[in-house]
Amino acid sequence: MEFQDVVRRRRMVRNYAERPVDPTVVDRMLENAIHAPSAGFSQGWGFLRLDTAGDVSRFWRSTTDADDLAAPDDWLTGMMRAPVVIVPCSSKAAYLGRYAEPDKGWTDRDEARWPMPFWHMDAAMASLLILQTAVDEGLGSCFFGIPPERDRAVREEFDIPDAYDPVGVITIGHRVEDTGNAGSPARRRRRPLEDVVHRGGWGRTG
Ligand SMILES: Cc1cc2nc3c(=O)[nH]c(=O)nc-3n(C[C@H](O)[C@H](O)[C@H](O)COP(=O)(O)O)c2cc1C
Repeated sequence: MEFQDVVRRRRMVRNYAERPVDPTVVDRMLENAIHAPSAGFSQGWGFLRLDTAGDVSRFWRSTTDADDLAAPDDWLTGMMRAPVVIVPCSSKAAYLGRYAEPDKGWTDRDEARWPMPFWHMDAAMASLLILQTAVDEGLGSCFFGIPPERDRAVREEFDIPDAYDPVGVITIGHRVEDTGNAGSPARRRRRPLEDVVHRGGWGRTG
């Protein structure tokens, strides 16, 4: 698929068919993910790959109240059908360690040196490559967050080390029509370029 089509066609998909995804396609998503840029080439990311019915079900059990699982709403019903779940994680420790190396020299590991939490940014960039690869493969995907009160349960269920933080979750599968869960774009418009691009300075027109 043309790159421009990948960009334009990507949207979050919250309703999936009960159809498996070819594991080699998931391989490709993850191979593309590790081609994301990363500060200092730290690559301080980790990807929890859940692609069996048992593992996917463990994920939903660890993030969802029993009551909601018993009577799932449209969002949960559609999302739980996704046969693949990837949890991209970031490691701040990996970045502090990498930048303490001689070619960077931040041996104090002071977080104040960091203009932004690049560890999360890099995991987010890798996540976008996963979303885009899904489109390129004719699949749907959705990035969403883990409720803060469920973070511990997910870590424990899947033995995620303390040095890694899940930055979100990506469901992947074959897209089917939305069932009233199209998300915010159904209620909001895309902000036009002239609202968000500030050529030559904020407040000027260009
Ligand atoms: C950081 C982040 C968190 C998001 N969290 C959720 C979420 O919890 N639930 C959900 O249904 N969609 C979530 N989304 C998807 C957004 O609603 C979606 O990207 C946005 O409405 C734009 O729509 P589009 O991606 O389909 O173009 C999230 C997206 C991002 C980037």
